[in-house]
Amino acid sequence: MTFEVFADADALVEFLTGAASVPSEEGLAMSELDHALQTAYELARVRPDDVELQIAGLVHDVGHSFGSGDEHARLGAHAVRRLLGERVAALVEAHVAAKRYLVTVDPDYGTKLSEGSVASLEMQGGALDAAEVERCDATPWWPAALELRRADDAAKEPGRAVPGLDHWIGSIETLAAKHPRLVQPL
Ligand SMILES: [Fe+2]
Repeated sequence: MTFEVFADADALVEFLTGAASVPSEEGLAMSELDHALQTAYELARVRPDDVELQIAGLVHDVGHSFGSGDEHARLGAHAVRRLLGERVAALVEAHVAAKRYLVTVDPDYGTKLSEGSVASLEMQGGALDAAEVERCDATPWWPAALELRRADDAAKEPGRAVPGLDHWIGSIETLAAKHPRLVQPL
């Protein structure tokens, strides 16, 4: 698929609907939509009041359709920024850096990663250096980025029953309404 910027909530929902027939990036017996829905559900459980974070979880891997490796996080963020706002985009972009951060600061974390995540870690730059860790710690929304990462890691369970895409459409529309697009000139 060529690179995309979602113009409205319908375009994003249509894209996510299509992800039901896209196999998991990691080769698990589940679709990209299953992984997205499980991530959003995990976040709803641990952060029930943070709808932006839940929706960031839902869309965190849309960039898999536009690029690979750490580039997918940046392209995914770019695709959703105009529609869902800066914080959601920042959380999407940070989900790879958050893995690198957790590997660096939490010795246990690396042992629990899926095979796919371990395989991609090196390609994504591996552990962070001290200055990078400090920069992350100074970022106000960094704790939310770590929550998203942990939800992402937990959202790899084929066959798990979680709320479907319909459950999230209202939240997508509410967020989109908060970030009205510029009116296109005629
Ligand atoms: Fe993911």
